[in-house]
Amino acid sequence: MRTYRIAVLPGDGIGKEVIPPALRAIEAAAAGFSCEFKPLDWGCEYYHRTGNMMPPGGLEQLRPMDAILLGAIGHPTVPDHVSLRDLLLRIRFAFDLYVNLRPVELLPGIECPLRGKTASQINMLFVRENTEGEYCGIGGRFKRDMAEEVAFQESVFTRRGTERVIRYAFGLASKRPRKKLASITKSNAMQYTMVLWDEVFAEVARDFPEVETAKYHVDAAAARMITAPESLDVVVGSNLFADILTDLGGALQGSLGLAASANLNPQERCGPAMFEPVHGSAPDIEGRGIANPIAAIWAASLMLEYLGESQAAVKIKNALQAVTGERRVRTPDLGGKSTTEEFASAVIQQI
Ligand code: NAD
Ligand code: IPM
Ligand code: MN
Repeated sequence: MRTYRIAVLPGDGIGKEVIPPALRAIEAAAAGFSCEFKPLDWGCEYYHRTGNMMPPGGLEQLRPMDAILLGAIGHPTVPDHVSLRDLLLRIRFAFDLYVNLRPVELLPGIECPLRGKTASQINMLFVRENTEGEYCGIGGRFKRDMAEEVAFQESVFTRRGTERVIRYAFGLASKRPRKKLASITKSNAMQYTMVLWDEVFAEVARDFPEVETAKYHVDAAAARMITAPESLDVVVGSNLFADILTDLGGALQGSLGLAASANLNPQERCGPAMFEPVHGSAPDIEGRGIANPIAAIWAASLMLEYLGESQAAVKIKNALQAVTGERRVRTPDLGGKSTTEEFASAVIQQI
């Protein structure tokens, strides 16, 4: 029987509440294969115990895995730039997971907050650059705590990094029925990084004449997601721009609790791919058992798809759709009264 080794990092806050349902869904859907889950307790509690977000050599524990399933990282007692950079961003960067794939789809039975919009009109696939750009972490602070204090933070856009993510997005667009790709830019104000981005986009476009392209400044793209979401199919953007737009995407799906993502390196395997909800640890609802587990379960489905277990992946996605379509069991973020456990059980039963 095929066996996959999966590193499981529930992390912090509601990450610990939504990952168990995702694991149950995988186990219920698995036929002809099995998953060996390796639980890892890295996160903010681990930080308080040890002074580190992950143990020394932690990346080497992850490297031989087939995939990583992550809940969420972050707790009010640890500065976010420490917890997130030292764990989440570290994994994305170390394994060069340069594509962050984020589907924005409306599931059956869930009302879009935009009046009258249905599933055929909310169907985007974001391709977020995931290893450089605004997140490169280069910068510093000077004259600390003095009146003249200065902080600066650089963005780094390499031709190679820009090209590979844009090329991947074109490849995806060319395989979808609508064959459309929108590039998110801000080259009207950022004359170096975003002009390079635009140039590379135009160059790669020549290799994909079948793909219809568009270029939107990020501010206009945000408005377009509300006023004309049906005009967007595949969307490619930089690390920060696509981060922001995909939380808006989650809102269009009805709740951030639905948005799932896959961190991939489709070219060279220098480590495991990582699958996670888009949302964070949600300290405002942590411990109440009401977090929506859809994003985590959907991320598990994306992971099975990546592992080549399409049947199981589809089974999970279909079960999510069947349960949301019934409109019976839903968590409070979607206006319901159900708990995480009640929703998870309905999905498992459906699988
Ligand atoms: P958040 O995504 O945690 O929460 C934003 C809002 O959405 C909150 O009101 C929350 O209750 C709600 N929400 C999110 N997920 C939900 C779910 N599954 N079900 C129901 N409601 C849900 O974002 P935030 O408040 O900006 O950040 C909280 C912490 O999480 C911070 O430490 C932040 O840095 C971190 N964070 C981590 C990740 C990650 O690990 N991938 C992503 C985003 C934020
Ligand atoms: C996400 C999150 C992270 C990001 C944060 C927590 C560093 O918002 O995965 O979308 O910005 O990438
Ligand atoms: Mn985000």
